[in-house]
Amino acid sequence: MTDNPVVDPTMTPAWEALDGRADAFDPDLRAWFGADPNRATRWTIDGADLHVDFSKNLIDEGVLADLLALAEQTGVYDLRDRMFAGEHINVTEDRAVLHTALRRPATDELTVDGQDAIADVHEVLNKVYDFAERVRSGEWTGITGKPVETVVNVGIGGSDLGPVMAYEALKPFVQDGLECRFISNIDPTDAGETTKDLDPETTLVIVASKTFTTLETITNAKVVRDWFLGALRDRGIVTDEATEKGAIAKHFVAVSTALDKVAEFGIDPNNAFGFWSWVGGRYSVDSAVGTSLAIAIGPDGFAEFLEGFNAMDVHFATAKPEENLPILMGMLNVWYSNFLGADTHAVLPYSQYLHRFPAYLQQLTMESNGKSVRRDGAPVTYETGEVFWGEPGTNGQHAFYQLIHQGTRMVPADFIAFANPAWPLKDGEADMHELFLSNFLAQTKALAFGKTSDEVRAEGTPEAIVSARVFTGNRPTTSIMAPALTPRVLGELIALYEHITFVQGAVWGIDSFDQWGVELGKVLAKQILPAIEGDSAALDAQDASTKALIEYYRANRK
Ligand code: F6P
Repeated sequence: MTDNPVVDPTMTPAWEALDGRADAFDPDLRAWFGADPNRATRWTIDGADLHVDFSKNLIDEGVLADLLALAEQTGVYDLRDRMFAGEHINVTEDRAVLHTALRRPATDELTVDGQDAIADVHEVLNKVYDFAERVRSGEWTGITGKPVETVVNVGIGGSDLGPVMAYEALKPFVQDGLECRFISNIDPTDAGETTKDLDPETTLVIVASKTFTTLETITNAKVVRDWFLGALRDRGIVTDEATEKGAIAKHFVAVSTALDKVAEFGIDPNNAFGFWSWVGGRYSVDSAVGTSLAIAIGPDGFAEFLEGFNAMDVHFATAKPEENLPILMGMLNVWYSNFLGADTHAVLPYSQYLHRFPAYLQQLTMESNGKSVRRDGAPVTYETGEVFWGEPGTNGQHAFYQLIHQGTRMVPADFIAFANPAWPLKDGEADMHELFLSNFLAQTKALAFGKTSDEVRAEGTPEAIVSARVFTGNRPTTSIMAPALTPRVLGELIALYEHITFVQGAVWGIDSFDQWGVELGKVLAKQILPAIEGDSAALDAQDASTKALIEYYRANRK
């Protein structure tokens, strides 16, 4: 397991300097804004179509200088360039990390492990686009000649969260008459509820799995196939092996890096869309894994989505560090988690369409940076990946914002909003979107500047409850705005967070592209299943707690 030498970040001069700053740090956003009328403009950076205001963060020029020095001293820029060049920076899996190649124009050149990666990417993209167009136009029909109305994506993790998030985000761009649904959980409820009202004759199933071995996905795919064939048998449409094969060919396609396994499952390899080991699952929504999205919003929309990713990639690769959004946001996260004690990070989109964005980011950030050994195998001696979480505003305001405003923990938060709504609704004369945006702005203002006891008293508040009504302020937020939530802007946002995740992992010297931590549970589930099914030797092999829970289950299962 070798790589360029991994720097222990705590041994760098910049880390020591930041430690010193954190000890003496006494942030006062009211005073800082009061003293510097240019603070808002000074700390606002535009990158691609994103307009990002950092001014309400707990940061000054000195902290910024040391954070950028830390990035330099830990080799962030070098690792970034090696990632873009296709070097095997995923050391524990000995793989290149090249999701950025998925969105590069066809005219670019990049050879990876002897293969022309850009040509490969565009060959698959064209196949996806061609298929998507045939489905959208009605040229692709089901076994009974009916066009597709519902696309069901069966996948989990990166083969689900990206597609469902992007589909939900881009609903206004979805072709009328087409709907996508998603099955991920091995809880039978998911497959049952998702298929219960579907017409199999107008349903297209996409089985998406990088490995095509994931228990949840393969089980769900088999269950959905059984539902589908059963319904067609009941209707007298599937009557023998030939009609069964014909029906599967018309209604089941696959997305995978393991095309041999796709064939074993019974899906025609001609109806399979490939990708490559150098695309991590959580970085794959812009590969063929996004086929459901490509069908829903069309090849032009998907191409625009990829252009957005690429615009942010170019920004990340070329913008100066002090104007580089992923560098700044990643290093701010390091500042908060390693020096100011933040354990979590909230992402709060003021867009209902982004309601799955925080869940998507949870896999992206936490599967990437939830590590406690470095790329050279040494244990880390500092905190790594924060817990990412969030919900759309304004719903979150009426749920957990209390803790962000007045709790004991610091929760750095990204607020995301768009100038133009997809739904220009009005409440009488009031533009609903403006009511919505006034909340977006009010929250970051309240978090930054708070409310002093004198201000509370001046409102005539009884002395006994003054302290309960004080807001300390100095709670850090970053405001991200864009003109509208379009395919392009969504691509930019996703790439922004991919690269923020990269920057943090690079500082920490960890491998952000493996996920060994999900293995053990998978292995144990296989060992536990026989015990649940009644094998007494398997039951006796369990620890006391697991055994007792299995016994409870068996006693109560009707
Ligand atoms: O959770 C582990 C994981 O390997 C993720 O990294 C991945 O996105 C998910 O399982 C699904 O994997 P696959 O696409 O191979 O089915």
